[in-house]
Amino acid sequence: MKLRSQDWFGRKDKLGFIHRAWMKAEGFSHDVFQGRPVIGICNSWSELTNCNAHLRQVADAVKRGVWAAGGFPLEFPTISLGEPFMRPSTMMFRNLMAMDVEETIRANPIDAVVLLCGCDKTTPAQLMGAASVDVPAIMVTGGPMLKGMWQNREIGSGSDVWHFWDELRAGRISDEDFCEIESCISRSAGHCMVMGTASTMTSLAEALGMTLSGCASVPAADSRRMVVAEQSGARAVEMAREDLRPSQILTRQALENAIRVNAAIGGSTNAILHLTALAGRLGIELPMKLFDDLARSTPFLVNVRPSGKYLMEDFYYAGGLPVVIKELLPLLHRDALTVTGKTVAENVAGARCHNPDVIRTLDAPLAAEGGTVVLFGNLAPTGAVLKPTAASPKLMQHTGRAVVFEDHDDLKERIDDPNLDVDENCVLVLKHGGPKGAPGMPEWGNLPLPAKLLKKGVEDMVRISDARMSGTSYGTVVLHVSPEAAVGGPLAIVQNGDLIELDVPNRKLNLLIGPEEIQRRLAAWEPPVRHYDRGYGRLFLEHIQQADQGCDFDFLGHYAGGEELKGSARSRARRAADRLPSPF
Ligand code: FES
Repeated sequence: MKLRSQDWFGRKDKLGFIHRAWMKAEGFSHDVFQGRPVIGICNSWSELTNCNAHLRQVADAVKRGVWAAGGFPLEFPTISLGEPFMRPSTMMFRNLMAMDVEETIRANPIDAVVLLCGCDKTTPAQLMGAASVDVPAIMVTGGPMLKGMWQNREIGSGSDVWHFWDELRAGRISDEDFCEIESCISRSAGHCMVMGTASTMTSLAEALGMTLSGCASVPAADSRRMVVAEQSGARAVEMAREDLRPSQILTRQALENAIRVNAAIGGSTNAILHLTALAGRLGIELPMKLFDDLARSTPFLVNVRPSGKYLMEDFYYAGGLPVVIKELLPLLHRDALTVTGKTVAENVAGARCHNPDVIRTLDAPLAAEGGTVVLFGNLAPTGAVLKPTAASPKLMQHTGRAVVFEDHDDLKERIDDPNLDVDENCVLVLKHGGPKGAPGMPEWGNLPLPAKLLKKGVEDMVRISDARMSGTSYGTVVLHVSPEAAVGGPLAIVQNGDLIELDVPNRKLNLLIGPEEIQRRLAAWEPPVRHYDRGYGRLFLEHIQQADQGCDFDFLGHYAGGEELKGSARSRARRAADRLPSPF
C-alpha cells in the first residue's frame, strides 16, 4: 500500500526536494524518508491544562515505540482544553479543538496518528477530529492522577471539593481545613481520579476500541503509563501499514458498546453529548432514547466515586476496564474490531478481577440498572438527563414548588440569601445555562444547596437546568433540558411557585400547568440578547446544536447540509488536501 506521506516525501520532483529539505532543518537524516510511515503525535499538552501537563513525557515514550517499529514520529500541538480555567466553559471549545485536530492531520504528511489526551473535552475532541479525517488513529490517554489524601483520608477530585465546600458553608470544617485540603487533593500529573468526565471518556475511548486494552485505567504517575505509550507508538506504525482507520472501528456496534460500558462504570452524563456528537461525525444516529434503553439492561458494576466508594487507582489495581468489559461481554458486540486488530472479546480474554468489591459481577451488581436516564415531558420535549446512581432514591419521584433563578448571576446573588423562600421539598431551577444561553453549556447544573438548608442538614434537593454537570458531581440533578431556555424551550417560562413533577421510574419531567397557560407564556417569551457579534463566539452561536444532538456544529456532521454526499464528506475533503500538497 502506498503511504499517504509519500505524496510529500517520496516525490522525485521539486516539491519532494522542498518537503525533504525543510524537514531536514530539524536534523533528520535522509534515511527517515525511505518509506517509513509518518506517525503524527497529536499532543494536547499545555501548562494551562494541568491534567495533560505530563503528555510531553508520554509523547517521548510514543516516539520510542514508533522508531523501534520502523516509523518516523512527528509530534504536533493542538489547542488544549483545561477544565479548571477556561471561560465560559471548555464545552464552548470542544468543536474548535476537534476542527484543529481534523484539519492539522488532513493538511500534513501523516500516515497514522497517536492522539494524546486526558482532561475532559480533550478526549472527545480528538476522537471527533480523528473520526472526521479518517486517517489511522490510536489514542493514548494520560491516566488518572494519584488519590488525594488528607489527614489519612482518601479524597477524590471534584467530588470532595463539592462535599467540603458544603461542609465549610455549613460551618462543619474551618477555613484552615479547607486550605489544607486544597494542597492535598491533586498530588500528581493526570486527570481527575474519580469516575468523572475524564475517566469516563478515556474509558469509553477504550470501550470504543480506540486504545490498547487496559490503557485508560493506568495512573498517570505509574511507569506502566509509559509502557502503554511505547506500545501504542509501535502499533500506530502497523496500523499505518494496514490502513486500519477509525471508520472501521467506530461503528454502531462500537458506540453501543461504549453506551453500555458507560452505564456499567457509572459514567458521566457528559458522555451522552460526546458520544452523540462522535456518532454524528460518522453518520450514525444515536437517539437519546437508545441511551436509556441500553442503560436499563446494563447493571452498574464499578464502585468508584462519585457513584461509589473507591478511586481510579483502586480501579486499576482491581484490574481496570478490561475486567468490566469481560464481565459485560454477554451484553456487548463482542466481535467489534479495535485498534489492536483484534476484537473486543479477544482483547480482554485474559482479564482477571483482583478486588470484587471495586468491580462487581453481573450476578452481584451495585444496581440492576446503570448509566444515565433520559427524561421527556412538557418541560423537556426533546429530552433531559439524570444520573440515578449519583442521586437520592427518595427523590426519584418528587413533585415540588419551583424556585427559579433566571441565570447564573441571579443564582450566585440569591442562593444563600436567608430570606430566600425555599425549603427542602422545593425544586431549584436554573435557566440560561445551555449551549447558547450561558453560552457553552457550563457545568452549572449541580446548583449549590441554599446555605440555610445545608445548616439544617439537608443533603440533596431536586435541581433542574439546561446546563451540564461535572462528572465528579452528585445529587438529584436534571441536566441538558432541551430545547434550552435561550431558544425558547419550555424551561424559559417556568415561574416561581409552579409545580414540577420528576418521575424517574416513568422517565417523566413535567411542568404542572395547563397547555393554554404554557402557550400563553411561550407566546410572550422574548429571546435574550446574544452574547457575541464576532469571531469564534459568533460562529459558535450561529452553528451550535442543542444538547440532544450532541452540541456539535451543524456543518460538521457526516452529512452536514442535510444531504448524503456522493462519496463521504471525509474522502472529498481528503482528496482536496491531497491535490494541493505544498504551499510553494
Ligand atoms: Fe482535568 Fe478534571 S480538571 S480532568
